[in-house]
Parts: sequence; structure tokens; C-alpha cells
Amino acid sequence: MPNPAPNSAEARDVLYHLHSQTNAQAHARSGPLVMERGEGIHVFDSNGKRYLEAMAGLWCTSLGFSEARLKRAAAEAYDRFGFYHTFNHKTPAETIELAEKLVSLSPIPEAQAYFATSGSEATETMVKLAWVYHAVRGKPGKRKVIARDRGFHGSTIVAASMCGMPRMHREFGLPLPGFLHTLCPDPYHGPQPDEDMAGFVARLAAALEEMIQREGPETIAAFIAEPINAGGGVIVPPAGYFPAIEAVLRRHDILVLADEVVCGFGRTGHWWGSETVGMTPDMMAMAKGISSSYFPISAVLLGKPIQDALAEMNKGGEIFGHGFTNSGHPVGVAVALETIRIYEEMDVVPHVRAMGARLRGGLEAIAAESGIVGQVRGAGLILGVEMVADPARRAAFDPALKVGARFDAEALRNGLVIRPMGDTIALCPPLIIDEAGVDEILDLFSRTLRAVEAGLGAPRAAAE
Ligand SMILES: Cc1ncc(COP(=O)(O)O)c(C=O)c1O
Repeated sequence: MPNPAPNSAEARDVLYHLHSQTNAQAHARSGPLVMERGEGIHVFDSNGKRYLEAMAGLWCTSLGFSEARLKRAAAEAYDRFGFYHTFNHKTPAETIELAEKLVSLSPIPEAQAYFATSGSEATETMVKLAWVYHAVRGKPGKRKVIARDRGFHGSTIVAASMCGMPRMHREFGLPLPGFLHTLCPDPYHGPQPDEDMAGFVARLAAALEEMIQREGPETIAAFIAEPINAGGGVIVPPAGYFPAIEAVLRRHDILVLADEVVCGFGRTGHWWGSETVGMTPDMMAMAKGISSSYFPISAVLLGKPIQDALAEMNKGGEIFGHGFTNSGHPVGVAVALETIRIYEEMDVVPHVRAMGARLRGGLEAIAAESGIVGQVRGAGLILGVEMVADPARRAAFDPALKVGARFDAEALRNGLVIRPMGDTIALCPPLIIDEAGVDEILDLFSRTLRAVEAGLGAPRAAAE
């Protein structure tokens, strides 16, 4: 939609609204895509055009875009309370219920839940708790955090520092000192020629060990990772990766922090992404799927040693000097409780596995006929399809061809919302998707891929 008409909603958006993760000049030329409403797994733009939202918005609306029970849960919560908080010993009644529910689902034994309102706040909270943990145990020098290339942990200053993406750092003079990045466990591009997966995993663990030795183990507080990197390109680590690197981390008394903001609540075919990849965290952050993003709410689950450290820190009667106004907001909590109830009623994990297998199988069949799909990857209902110039050599396209962006534009023309990350196309549909919805994605995806191939003059694999 080039050059928005004067005074249109699109033109006013360009004038008055600064967008997240958007190039402002390109936005001034194209204007926004104005979305007006949602129905199940579909959304409708201001011209009434329907799209299958195969990204669940931003990896978040697991229950789709029109779940009446969540609306009712919010309305009923508002009937009781517009707001209450969790400072100074107070709490809304339902906040206790959600804390108990999360602890019952937690893979971390004897956990407690801490509430915030965004994924960024949750990941940053884990860092502060890690600092307390070490300081109380007489190791105040343990302050650094190791994250990974291509990881994403949010946009506030510490969360952005932990991201492993140049665009999150470039203009802002980040990362902050003491925020380090180790290698991304990308099994497609990471291994060297003639290196098998076990060798690759051993090299990743050795690189981490080397970084810890170089920095000094006495300076490092924590390691943070998404079980499966979402925004970095849907990277599933190779088998044995987390056990191998956790062995290194434990040896040096470094806490393991899981960022479950995307992977939590069934997305990967287990309740937690950590379970899918064999990660055993000391703390975990969650958001998005906790409320299907119908209300901004996030949480941290923290293990007993962290709780003990907090108790020790404040044994003189001081308070825990941390908190967000809307931590444990009664409406967010009510929406989250209802969201989890629905996940349990729909038996979300087997459903995700079945739908994920159907989607992946269909994508693999499409890939087999394409000359430009290098890899279909993922777990459960978070999948990535990487397009490459030469699948046999895993050789990337010339970035100037903007193959991912072409796919995105063509997909939107076809009524499919995906997310391009370089030349990898992410699919992360609402978890309520059924067979018909999966087949609709496959049809739209296949049509889009054919058009992109035609535009590139790429041969079909079957015709070669
Ligand atoms: C893995 C992960 N962690 C953290 C965040 C940050 O969440 P928020 O945008 O709610 O701060 C995101 C956002 O996409 C994410 O994907």
C-alpha cells in the first residue's frame, strides 16, 4: 500500500505512531497494515481481507484471536477489581491461585512464582535474582551473564544486552559491560565440514569453558538461553547440547536461566521447552502463552536456593527492593488462570504434537519438491523453513535478493501471516489450530513458495 492517502488512518499512523522493530522510512512509504479483528486462527485487515495468522501474532496468541472464555474471565475479574497489587504483603486473591498453579506445573522443585508484565521484565528479574544469589553466598564478584548469539530476551536494557542480535545493540551502545555471548547451537550451519553432531556439541561446550576461563569463573553469575531460539531463526539445539553445557556451567557455579517466553505452555510439544531440549534450569521466565497475550502478564519461577538467598539477604528486616506496579494484576492473573484451564481441558501437549507433526510433514513434502528449501526444523508448533540458494551446499542466498522479505510480501498477498528471519520463514500458529487450519497453512505456504521460486527463476527439485 504505497503512499498512504492524506488524512487516512494509514497516514495518521505514519505521522503519530512510532512502531516497534520497524524501519521508519520504509514505513512512511508503505504505511501500516491495519488489522481490525480476529476470529480463531484468522485476522482481518481494515479492508476486510482475511489472513491465517500463522505466527499467533508475536508467538503468543496460543488460543487464537477470539477466545470468549478469556474475555469473560477478564470481565468477571474487572467486576471484582480494576486493580490491586503485590507490594507490602498485599495481594489480589486470584494471584495466590495462579502462583500455586504455576508451581504445580513447574519442573523446578519447590519453586515460587514472581509476577511481572512483560517477557523483558521477567528475564531481567532473573538476572537480579542471580546477583542476589551469589552475593549472599559470599561471591559478589559473580555478576556477568553469558547469553548466546541469535538469542532474544527482550528490549529493556539488560534484556537487550542479553540478546545476541546486532540490531538490538547497534544504535544503543549495548550490550552493557559484563553481558557476553557464546556460540549459537545451530545444527544446520554450525558444524564444520566433517564434524559430526557429537563433535559439534563438544566444541560448543569447549568454547563455553574457554570463555568462562578467559573471563574468570568467579565473575560469572548466570547463563541464559531459550530452549529453542525463536526470533533467532527457530534453532533447535542438537541432542545432548544442554546436558553438555550445563555440566560446564555447574562446575563453575553458574546459574542456568531458561527463557520460556515463547517455548512455555505446550508450544514445543512438552509443557515446557526445557523438557523438549533436556534443560534443567534454576529459574525460568514465561510470558506470552501464559495468558495467550490477552493481558500483559509474565512470571518467573525460582527454585529453593534462590528463595533461601533472598531470605538471607533480608534477614535483618529489609525489604526485597524489586517490583512492578502491575505485578500480579488481578485481571491478568484471571486471564492466565483461564488460559491454563483451557490448555488442560484441550489436553494441549498431545494436540500440539499431532498438529505439529501434520504441519511439519506437509512442509517437508513441499520442501522435497522445491529447489530452494534447505531445511525444515522445529518442535511441536514452532517451525522454521530455511530457504537457501544451494541446498546441497547449504549456501545462503545473496542477502541483496531479500528472499525472506519477498516470501513475506507474497504470503501477505496470499492471506498468510508468517515471520521472515533472514531467509528463514517462521511458523508458530495458535495452538488451537486443527487439521483444516494446518492444511490451509500448507496450501498458502506452497503457493507462496512457488511464486517466490518463479520470481527467482529457481528450478523445481522434481524437474531437475
Ligand atoms: C524468547 C523471548 N524472550 C523475551 C521476550 C521479550 O518479551 P516482551 O516483548 O514481552 O518484553 C521475547 C519477545 O518476543 C521473546 O521472544
